[in-house]
Amino acid sequence: MLIKTQRDGFQLARADELTPQSVYEGRRDLLKLLATGAAGMSLAAWAGREAHAQAVRPNKLAPLPGGRSAVAGAVTMDKATTYADASSYNNFYEFGTDKADPAKNAHTLRTTPWTVEVEGLVKKPSRFSLEDLLRLSPMEERIYRLRCVEGWSMVIPWVGYSLNELIKKVEPLGSAKYVEFVTQADPKTMPFVGSRVLDWPYVEGLRMDEAMHPLTLLGFGMYGEVLPNQNGAPVRLVVPWKYGFKSAKTLVKIRFTERQPATAWNHAAASEYGFYSNVNPAVDHPRWSQATERRIGEDGLFAKKRKTLMFNGYEAQVGQLYAGMDLKKLF
Ligand code: MTE
Repeated sequence: MLIKTQRDGFQLARADELTPQSVYEGRRDLLKLLATGAAGMSLAAWAGREAHAQAVRPNKLAPLPGGRSAVAGAVTMDKATTYADASSYNNFYEFGTDKADPAKNAHTLRTTPWTVEVEGLVKKPSRFSLEDLLRLSPMEERIYRLRCVEGWSMVIPWVGYSLNELIKKVEPLGSAKYVEFVTQADPKTMPFVGSRVLDWPYVEGLRMDEAMHPLTLLGFGMYGEVLPNQNGAPVRLVVPWKYGFKSAKTLVKIRFTERQPATAWNHAAASEYGFYSNVNPAVDHPRWSQATERRIGEDGLFAKKRKTLMFNGYEAQVGQLYAGMDLKKLF
């Protein structure tokens, strides 16, 4: 793109004004998917949506629309966080520990080609390309609250489908009790991999029934577009009733195990970050209370903190998974 200037006629546009080639390529691939109906929405609806997105935000990513989810609890009425906030205030330690670092640094992440290996205690161990995963099930829009362990929360319209759609395809064995999620750890494209802040790769885990719960989302997009790198492109987990760190970004491996997997944060500080990490206002973090939260975007001197809800407000949907458990011990 050329921009006319007064002095010498033309100059090259700044790099960040250009849509990267990978985005164009992604758009072309997604268009193909949409044309075959694989991404779950008609082209006409998609075109209307794109025009809207274009008016709201000029440098947008490739569209990834999904039909509204019918899963119970999948669409909160809370006002959505702005795209600008959701994509610029992130935890993604592979790109730095400051909240502003991922948006600044994650452009070095390479998301094509991408594969996710599924292995361990399953009948059908499989290797899925990103294209396979995009076609595996119709895309849905889920508007989830996400509560970070640090005391803030956001409301994000995600695009994806229930993780259980993938799990059913690989047919877990009866002995599979847990699922381990392994994420990308490439020091060449992720500048903080190798730092001592965590053991890499970033790993997370869920119990089998948690992984199978329809609210557990395999996410590919947000706000009707493919995920920006800083939010975990090209594929991540979103588990809305658990603290945000359980929602692992940039997934490369899913492993079914008999034993509870080790997780990155539990390994780093076991007394602070348990395996379950369910949002629970009655169980304090050893260094701070979890009773309230700050909703990103509701800032200012007089902004009231919100009361944190049990299971982040998803108790009706997930409470029964933990019936009879001592959630103070199994935090
Ligand atoms: N996944 C990876 N691979 N690396 C990370 O550092 N941070 C977690 C989680 N997933 C993290 C990660 C934390 S602490 C939070 S709060 C959420 O991602 C934030 O997701 P968001 O940036 O989309 O809000």
